[in-house]
Amino acid sequence: MRVLVTAAALLLAQAAALDAQRSAPPLATPAPADERGAPLEGLERISCQRCHADVVREWAGTLHGKAWVDAPYREELADARRPESCHNCHIPEPLHLQLGADGSIPQRPKPRDATLRDVPLEDVDAHFGVSCESCHRGPDGTILGPYGAPTDAHVSVKHASFLPESNSALCIACHATTVGPVIGIAKDFVDTEQHAQGRSCVGCHMAPVERPAASEPGKPALPPRAGRSHELQTPRDPGFLARAFELRLERRDGALVLVVVNACGHRVPGRVGRVLTLEAELVDGSGAVVASATHTIETKRSLPADGQLELVLRGSGASVRVRGVHEAPALPDAVVFLERVLALP
Ligand code: HEC
Ligand code: HEC
Ligand code: HEC
Ligand code: HEC
Ligand code: HEC
Repeated sequence: MRVLVTAAALLLAQAAALDAQRSAPPLATPAPADERGAPLEGLERISCQRCHADVVREWAGTLHGKAWVDAPYREELADARRPESCHNCHIPEPLHLQLGADGSIPQRPKPRDATLRDVPLEDVDAHFGVSCESCHRGPDGTILGPYGAPTDAHVSVKHASFLPESNSALCIACHATTVGPVIGIAKDFVDTEQHAQGRSCVGCHMAPVERPAASEPGKPALPPRAGRSHELQTPRDPGFLARAFELRLERRDGALVLVVVNACGHRVPGRVGRVLTLEAELVDGSGAVVASATHTIETKRSLPADGQLELVLRGSGASVRVRGVHEAPALPDAVVFLERVLALP
């Protein structure tokens, strides 16, 4: 048993404007792989698969691919008073076919045609959730993307939704609404002007990859090019979750203060039912614990975007051990996502 020598003094505060230049380590492929539900079937029926097999595979494992078949969603849908109000974001009509007069992305997309929705779940064509078309289909059969490079395969048009300086609007369209277990965390991103700090949803949730833009069977291989993985980085990956927090130790009035800053650009945790516990221990040269402090954040006591919490440790020691534990409805067991030893300042 650990002995609590000092009680944790806690403070939630908006941090001063954060350094936009802050560099993050490169994103890794999400791990563990998404274990949410059975794999999507019938991918060969997605027309894009023929030439963009890698992208289709990445996307198929995500909750974008499974947004319509996802079991927790189906359960809530069955209980929803107006289930048709749920279809908008889980099985949307292509967003760029419903732009506002000023070219803006709809803040509440329309659902796909009822004739597509109401077919049985076994008919996979109908329910590829947030599909390739949802994001990439443009007017008149065009495909919207980051380059607008010419190809025989389809008319590609360069569009703001896919450029680093403006791509968050696409994500915000569906992620700003609070509904069911969903917290509209994209609203935090907008309200705290994260974009002006150089942050974007794609920049954190879609890892950079180098690969050919397409590979069509029987055609000469295209050279690799910089793109983005469609496998979404999620907090079920402990390595990714650890990136939510920046840690620093300060000496203040004879005490050590571990400052934990939310570097996500939106509140943490981002969904109902998740609990994150942060523990700090001051240890001496022999490894004995001199002082410890703990703080838990959850739905009702979340850490706001750019917000910080402080864990105060009193006593004399040699280093501080920090540990973070994640509990969530989607995880069978609690997961340690953060383990770090900090030298004293
Ligand atoms: C404005 C867009 C939007 C609408 C409308 C919407 N959702 Fe969602 N839903 C989302 C987003 C975005 C997520 C993912 C959020 C996240 O991961 O934090 C989500 C996730 C969920 C989840 C979590 C699934 C899981 O795997 O844990 C459930 C359940 C859910 N929605 C139910 C509903 C129900 C029921 C309705 C209708 C009452 C509805 N949604 C309407 C956008 C929407
Ligand atoms: C939620 C929206 C969304 C969905 C769904 C989506 N994409 Fe993308 N896609 C993007 C964004 C954003 C980029 C631009 C990434 C960047 O900054 O390079 C992109 C880029 C691409 C590119 C350009 C090359 C590359 O690797 O970045 C291709 C090809 C592509 N997507 C194909 C697909 C296919 C095929 C599907 C369906 C399996 C799909 N996308 C589903 C948002 C989406
Ligand atoms: C017959 C092969 C083929 C099919 C089918 C195909 N694509 Fe492509 N796509 C390509 C090729 C080739 C390129 C790359 C052109 C280049 O940059 O040289 C490309 C480029 C793209 C890009 C980047 C556009 C840009 O900005 O330059 C996106 C996004 C994309 N495809 C999405 C899709 C989606 C979504 C589908 C399915 C609806 C699809 N593609 C179907 C071959 C195909
Ligand atoms: C058309 C609506 C829509 C758009 C556009 C959209 N999302 Fe989502 N997103 C959803 C829904 C719905 C879910 C959850 C589905 C579920 O859990 O059943 C989701 C889930 C997610 C998740 C959680 C994945 C997980 O496994 O927990 C992340 C991260 C995410 N989206 C990021 C993005 C990013 C980044 C973009 C912009 C490139 C984006 N989304 C655009 C609707 C959308
Ligand atoms: C600076 C990096 C960063 C930016 C920018 C960012 N996110 Fe996140 N996001 C994270 C991290 C780290 C987590 C895990 C934190 C947590 O546990 O809630 C996360 C969690 C999420 C989740 C999962 C929530 C849950 O509880 O399951 C969704 C959905 C999501 N982000 C969507 C978005 C969208 C949409 C945007 C843009 C409006 C965005 N993120 C911008 C880093 C970022």
